[in-house]
Amino acid sequence: MLYLSNYMKPLFVFLLFCHVASTVKHSLKYFSTSTSGVPNFPEFVAVAMVDEVQAGYCESNMKTPEPRQDWVRDLIKDDPKQLEWYSLQCIRAQHSFRANIDDLKQRLNQTGGIHILQRMSGCEWDDVTGEEIGFNQYGYDGEDFIALDLQTLTWTASKQQAFTTKLRWDADKTRLEDNKHNLINICPNFLKKSLHYGRSFLQRTDLPSVSLLQKTPSSPVSCHATGFYPDRAMMFWRKDGEEVHEDVDHGEILPNHDGSFQMSVDLNLSSVAPEEWRRYDCVFHLSGWKDDIITKLDQAVIRTNRVPGSSSEFPAGLVVGVVVGLLVLLVICITGLFIWRRNNNGFLPVNSKYLK
Ligand SMILES: *[C@@H]1O[C@H](CO)[C@@H](O)[C@H](O)[C@H]1NC(C)=O
Ligand SMILES: *[C@@H]1O[C@H](CO)[C@@H](O)[C@H](O)[C@H]1NC(C)=O
Repeated sequence: MLYLSNYMKPLFVFLLFCHVASTVKHSLKYFSTSTSGVPNFPEFVAVAMVDEVQAGYCESNMKTPEPRQDWVRDLIKDDPKQLEWYSLQCIRAQHSFRANIDDLKQRLNQTGGIHILQRMSGCEWDDVTGEEIGFNQYGYDGEDFIALDLQTLTWTASKQQAFTTKLRWDADKTRLEDNKHNLINICPNFLKKSLHYGRSFLQRTDLPSVSLLQKTPSSPVSCHATGFYPDRAMMFWRKDGEEVHEDVDHGEILPNHDGSFQMSVDLNLSSVAPEEWRRYDCVFHLSGWKDDIITKLDQAVIRTNRVPGSSSEFPAGLVVGVVVGLLVLLVICITGLFIWRRNNNGFLPVNSKYLK
């Protein structure tokens, strides 16, 4: 998770607005993840995302990838060749990831433990300037490992340990040409076709439901928005109408299973007297939407796992815990165990908050 000092937060919010104002970029991204030593988790998982919405899914032993949106079903009905292409890629990737992770473990002397190899590949298209870019980069155990430089058509090792891999992959010219063709011809083509089929879905605006959540009376109050679309949104706490920066923890925007998004922002109220609470509210702002959703901080509307009048917090907490656990698992599946850092192109471990 990006760590931002309190001084940087206003800047971050400002940058978010800038990003919103200038956004014309569309993307088709493939996140592929291979794991070793993780029980009850598929060895290989890949998802295709169009403008950050999950469009397709494939995992170990799956012969045909699954479309995840109705418009993707329409697309492959009209263009069965595209599904054939994805089926082939899915099977190939399973084999190459297996071989690569086995090879890395052996070469890095890693006999046991959990290991994760990830790839983020795909393309972006700017529908105003027409600019297209392709990318293909790997992470190993949560850190950048190796990336393709499309200009020179060579691999760049991100760390010393990847150098042997670089030499080996640079020698495989057939694969390099294949990568290039996929990234600069096939991917932009598929992206434009997807945007055409998905236009009504991808151009919609959905407002979220916003709730205030609190685990225990001493926990921070979390303002949680879920179900919004697109993912260009911001949320913050205010006191007397002014944004609060102290004691605030901004969460990242995360994908929901249905193609919408969620986010939360926590406010630590431990030093705020109860009679002061009414001076606070939480603001959700969706890009391009005039009316913000404002939620007043009010004890009466806070949702909690606690059973009123009961000293035992266990049963209700357990149920909510299981549900949250399943949601977290979905998010993890979608993002491939690690969340892609939006602003710096790099891998980083998922915030441990989501793994608890
Ligand atoms: C691999 O492990 C063996 C046994 O623990 C050790 O002797 C060897 O030096 C290690 N090699 C590397 C490259 O770390
Ligand atoms: C909330 O703030 C208090 C001090 O004001 C601090 O002791 C406590 O650890 C904070 N809680 C969280 C969850 O950050």
